[in-house]
Amino acid sequence: MKHIILITGAGKGIGRAIALEFARAIRHHPDFEPVLVLSSRTTADLESISLECRAEGALTDTITADLSDMADVRQLSAHIAERYDRIDCLVNNAGVGRFGSLFDMTEADFDYTMSTNLKGTFFLTQALFAMMERQRSGHIFFITSVAATKAFKHSAIYCMSKFGQRGLVETTRLYARKCNVRITDVQPGAVHTPMWGEVSDEMQSLMMMPEDIALPIVQAYLHPARTVVEEIVLRPTGGDLQEE
Ligand SMILES: NC(=O)c1ccc[n+]([C@@H]2O[C@H](COP(=O)([O-])OP(=O)(O)OC[C@H]3O[C@@H](n4cnc5c(N)ncnc54)[C@H](OP(=O)(O)O)[C@@H]3O)[C@@H](O)[C@H]2O)c1
Repeated sequence: MKHIILITGAGKGIGRAIALEFARAIRHHPDFEPVLVLSSRTTADLESISLECRAEGALTDTITADLSDMADVRQLSAHIAERYDRIDCLVNNAGVGRFGSLFDMTEADFDYTMSTNLKGTFFLTQALFAMMERQRSGHIFFITSVAATKAFKHSAIYCMSKFGQRGLVETTRLYARKCNVRITDVQPGAVHTPMWGEVSDEMQSLMMMPEDIALPIVQAYLHPARTVVEEIVLRPTGGDLQEE
């Protein structure tokens, strides 16, 4: 059976690993036919992950979209509606962060973070959850963070955006339970991805890898549909990189 799966931020880091893990799941689940709709701002990234997923036997479709731009958000949801007329899984993964002292954060940092992490995520979810509600089926993953429940001193705006995403998770759940839609909040600690820029080998050794996050997400999706994995919290075994 075909599964229409939209992954935002699929070009790099965690989103890229999630796309590949969905494609690799075909090896163990021959009846699983994922149609991976891969989206991010960089077309070249999408073309390369698309090729990797196709090599595993998945069908793919790429759409370049900037979630901080409402016209792109509308275009992305219209693309799903017009081309597929259904959506089985939305992975709200695209996200950005700007880090530094509370006193150094600017209005531009605030708007940049909130327009993707909150505004874009909210309006994409609103449009695609409406399709799931009509279908009476679907699964939405929100890649929030451990910073959605715990403060970190150099992440004020990022933490605000992630605590805010958690508000969306909890509100959406109230609707989802009434229409057979599954909601999973994925809260990773530090993962070695381009979001961190260059890191030392020592720091990298204290971090998780993107595939560590992707595997439990795909397992939660393939879990019997009568059961929802509501939360996945993943930390490096040694704990968070910074304790505040
Ligand atoms: N890495 C961590 O330690 C960590 C921990 C907890 C949670 N998270 C969360 O996990 C998610 C993925 O993070 P990551 O570490 O994989 O980051 P990443 O390596 O920077 O990748 C982020 C992806 O999101 C896309 N993206 C960013 N802004 C976008 C926008 N406005 N519109 C469309 N696509 C956009 C990027 O595409 P382009 O660059 O092409 O635009 C890229 O493909 C984020 O929500 C992040 O907050 C990360």
